[in-house]
Amino acid sequence: MQDLSPRPGELEAIETASVDELRSLQLQRLQWSLKHAYDNVPHYRKAFDEAGVHPDDLKDLSDLSKFPFTSKADLRENYPFGMLAVPRDQVSRVHASSGTTGRPTVVGYTKDDLDMWATVVARSIRAAGGRPGDMLHNAYGYGLFTGGLGAHAGAEKLGCTVVPVSGGMTERQVQLIQDFKPDIIMVTPSYMLAVIEEMERQGIDPRSTSLKVGIFGAEPWTNDMRHEMEQRLDMHAVDIYGLSEVIGPGVASECVETKDGLTVWEDHFYPEIVDPITMEPVAEGEEGELVFTSLTKQAMPIVRYRTRDLTRLLPGTARTMRRIEKITGRTDDMIILRGVNLFPTQIEELILHTPELSPHFQCVLGRQGILDDMTVRVEQRDGVSAESAHAAAMTLKRLVKSKIGVTVAVDVVQPGGVERSNGKMRRILDNRPQR
Ligand code: DLL
Repeated sequence: MQDLSPRPGELEAIETASVDELRSLQLQRLQWSLKHAYDNVPHYRKAFDEAGVHPDDLKDLSDLSKFPFTSKADLRENYPFGMLAVPRDQVSRVHASSGTTGRPTVVGYTKDDLDMWATVVARSIRAAGGRPGDMLHNAYGYGLFTGGLGAHAGAEKLGCTVVPVSGGMTERQVQLIQDFKPDIIMVTPSYMLAVIEEMERQGIDPRSTSLKVGIFGAEPWTNDMRHEMEQRLDMHAVDIYGLSEVIGPGVASECVETKDGLTVWEDHFYPEIVDPITMEPVAEGEEGELVFTSLTKQAMPIVRYRTRDLTRLLPGTARTMRRIEKITGRTDDMIILRGVNLFPTQIEELILHTPELSPHFQCVLGRQGILDDMTVRVEQRDGVSAESAHAAAMTLKRLVKSKIGVTVAVDVVQPGGVERSNGKMRRILDNRPQR
């Protein structure tokens, strides 16, 4: 794999500023952002008043903990445009979450917001090893989902040649990769696996393509999956994180020279980690729920937004800004099985330690009597005998019991036996009858 570390002069000044400079910029921006929210969004005015706080009370970054949290429910209650802090005619674009449960959440962007977003995505692509002039295959979905258009604008801003493929039509994805010879691919990790599989079906060695970097996000994936991707594709695999309520992709991103978690672009998004039950800030480096406050957003400032994503906050390494560890999972995706908490990412790790098994898997929840149970449905790799597949199932079952502490069933199926995604993979299939 090529050394794609940044060369002197390639980074923005703020990426290598001193911690003091960064904190002072954040304080100034945070004061502006809280005032902007309070003055222009009735929801925030009410919530701050009820909590007995005023934007003027923020004298220090630590004062942020006095301000109320914002949740997805608050955004839903203000559907569609109640959270806007600018007149609707100053909003250049809206995006929305799919809204599988209830109303979708709508987010808006001014022209300046779109420019800031493109800047942080361009920074993310550069951190991943991308350079002006690179060709970038963008397989994130275009539309109301922020992935496609977010990645697109950032890639253009960096000076890449963008191929706006969007998700789906996997055969064509492979053909375009073969014909256009892109340097970079941006796609969900689960859909990358489907593209690799299609390459193999067409007799193409995935290691032989022109791709140098994959920028994977929009769903949890593990370091073991990184290893799998890097082996199978002979390219760097780095993580990009974001959520529509905060901006979209590009809230945090991994640096190719360290691959040690995602640098939070803290000059625009202020991170905190809180205990998801008590909502108190956790000690430095402890795991908890990630919370963000926007520092520069105009159309839809967001204050202490509860992401539901679990991770820890770590000191900066490749950049001044702090990092988050790879996301373990969402609090909503935590499976509680006979008192034991578990996440699909833990299962992914164990599957990838079992050579006969492929990373195509789902956690299927069911119920026997009053007890919940779980079956890991996982595909065997190509060419594995029935006997080895059976042994692998036993191995995985044992690993889950010893590492996670719970008994699950394992169903090893033929390649192709687990559903494929064009975007975010549904890792949990909940077949439990409604109580
Ligand atoms: O998924 C934005 C995005 C697009 C990020 C493309 C990266 C690449 P939403 O649809 O609003 O936005 O979903 C946000 O997806 O709260 C996490 O639970 C999950 N997520 C996003 N990136 C990662 C990641 C986009 N790198 C939700 N690792 C977030 C783990 C991620 N989970």
